[in-house]
Parts: sequence; C-alpha cells; structure tokens
Amino acid sequence: MNTEIATTESPESTDMAVQAAVQMLNAGEAIGLPTETVYGLAADAFNEEAVGKIFEAKGRPRFDPLIVHLPSKAALADVAVVSEELEKVVNVLTNQFWPGPLTILLPKKPAVPDIVTAGLDTVAVRMSEHPVFRKIIKEFGRPLAAPSANRFGRISPTSAAAVQEELGGLIPLIVDGGACGRGLESTIVRLEPPEGGEVTAKGKKKKPRIEIVRAGPITAEDLKNFGIVIRPRRGARAEAVAGAPGQMASHYAPATPLRVLTDPGDFEPEPGKRYGLLSFRGEAEDGYLSLTDWSEVAVLSPGSGKMMEAAIRFFFLLRKLDNSGVDEIIAEPMADRGLGMAMMDRLRRASTRVPEDE
Ligand code: TXA
Ligand code: MG
Repeated sequence: MNTEIATTESPESTDMAVQAAVQMLNAGEAIGLPTETVYGLAADAFNEEAVGKIFEAKGRPRFDPLIVHLPSKAALADVAVVSEELEKVVNVLTNQFWPGPLTILLPKKPAVPDIVTAGLDTVAVRMSEHPVFRKIIKEFGRPLAAPSANRFGRISPTSAAAVQEELGGLIPLIVDGGACGRGLESTIVRLEPPEGGEVTAKGKKKKPRIEIVRAGPITAEDLKNFGIVIRPRRGARAEAVAGAPGQMASHYAPATPLRVLTDPGDFEPEPGKRYGLLSFRGEAEDGYLSLTDWSEVAVLSPGSGKMMEAAIRFFFLLRKLDNSGVDEIIAEPMADRGLGMAMMDRLRRASTRVPEDE
C-alpha cells in the first residue's frame, strides 16, 4: 500500500489534508493523525471493520482496548454513561482539562462496539486539543478510536516521519501536523465517587477519588485540586492487575535493550559493547557523561533540565538512540514527580530489567 503524507503548512494545504482525512475516515480506513500528545492511528469508532484495521496495522492484540476521541464535550453522552454520583467530578475535570491530554475511564454505552473496548464494560475517552485533529474530527462529526500510531509494543511516534517509520506501507494516509506539543501519551484516570454520599456529617464536602492509571501530561499535582489523587502503582505488572490491559511490560520498548541507571557508581561497561546515554541535562556534574566512551549521547533538556522540554523530546530521542546501532541504552533517572513521573514510567516499561525499587 502506498502511504500518502498530507502536510498542513498553509491554510490551503491544511484544508486539503482535512478533506483527504475525512474522506478516508468515511471510507472506513485507519489513518495517522497528529494529536498534542503523540500521533494516533484513527478510525471511525462506530465502524467495527474500520477499527479492525487499526489492530491489523499495529499488530495489536484484540484484548487491548482503544481510546475514543470525541468531536465535542456533548458527544461524551453518545459513548459513555456518567452516573449521577460521578457527574460533578466529570464536569469539573472536562471543564478544566478538555480539550487536552486527559483520558477518563467510564462505563460504556452499548453503541460503542466491543472491538473498541476489547469487551470491557468501560470506555476510555478524551478530546484532543490539536488544531488539525480538531478540524478533522469536527468535520467527520463522530468519535474516533485512536491508539498511538506505532507497531504494537514499540516507541510512540511524535512526528509524521516516525509514523511513516512505524506504519509506512500499512496505512493509506498520514496527516503531518508537525511535532507533538506534549510528547507523552495522555494521562488516564479512573474515578470513584466520594464514599457514603457527597457531604460529611458536619456538612463538609467529600472528595471523589481520582486514580491515575497511566501517568501523563496532566500530573498528579494538576489533579489534586479536584479530588483525592491515587498515584499509579509502580511497575507494569501492578498496573496490569489494576485493570489497564494495555499497560504491559513490553510497552514503549525500543528494540535495543534499555536500562535505567539509578546510581552511576553501579555501571560496569563491558569491553567492546557500544553504549548510548539518554541524559536529562547533559551536565558532567550529574556523573554520567564520564562513565564510558559513549557511542551516542542524547540530551533531553540541555543545561537547565526542564521537564516540559524533556517530555517533548523524549520519544524522539529514544527513537534516535534505538536507531543509532548501540548495543544498550543507559537512561539517567529523573525526579519521579510531575512530568518526571510519566517519563520514569515509560523508562521503567522500556527497560528490560525492572529496577530494584519496584
Ligand atoms: O495520548 C494518547 O492517549 C494517545 C493519543 C493518540 O490519543 N493514545 C494512546 O492510545 O496512547 P494507546 O492505545 O496507545 O494507549 C491507550 C491505553 C492502553 O494501555 C489501553 O490498554 C488503555 O489505554 N485503555 C483503553 N481503554 C481502556 C479501558 N476501558 N480500561 C482500561 N484501560 C484502557
Ligand atoms: Mg500506545
């Protein structure tokens, strides 16, 4: 199959790309689209055959459910049931964070085909804030099922070129919307109403529970004003048990072995082996640069070490190291809070050896 790439560099080319995308979606195709987090492989969520093409192109097992993207907040009612007890927290979160990188797990409406949710009675929903994605989904007018546009278990794509590398020849169209502004997949949350009613005996308001199932751009710190935040359990296996079927150990993995080196003092390079370093700041004082004669060094946020910059560059640099031909990637750890929590989660999953503190 020939994969066409539609650019969006001018208003005219954007219009053409939007028309081409909507035409493909109406024809039941799965296509690569930009979102603010990572590129998605999108298809009509209500068309089982189209959704089947997503699983086929990705090589994704059918027990791993997809995220449903909405054309508007009002469309939430078409795919999910919002119970009376969750109405308040859902309204607050969607007003605050939609459109944006927050995915909410809710009981699904029967209209959502089982293939989308892998037979679960819940559906993962979000509304992307990417301007090109919004144009396309508005014009299309219906929800789009879209996982990240990578082959199953591989590094998420944050550029059209990365989608081409992953799925070129397998899908008919990629819309190039530039580099993703957030760089990490959306935060996924599960909600629980306040226990035993909305107010305490003293008339104080009780808070709902917001459980982070996958750490992402909307951080625990961002969410804590809106409920009692439950942080994700460390380690892929714990999360699989917690009920996020796709959160398995092989997720986000480069083909090259990767290790998070918590203590630079632990590094004993094997002679003849080529190592690549994924560094946070690229500063000698952090103790990693001088450990060995690195074949490749990729710096997430040179000098100042800004989490937001690191997040944007994270998958791009991981992909670059993976393609560089080194035998092993060594990653510096980051602070396990804010966006650092999301990146450490991806690094732990990408690593072949789970660090001791799991
Ligand atoms: O930012 C994102 O979320 C990107 C863009 C394209 O929107 N999408 C994305 O989709 O990361 P994907 O399929 O790569 O990851 C979705 C995760 C999977 O781990 C899947 O198992 C989980 O969400 N998930 C989907 N529906 C679920 C459900 N009903 N219950 C629990 N987990 C669910
Ligand atoms: Mg993914």
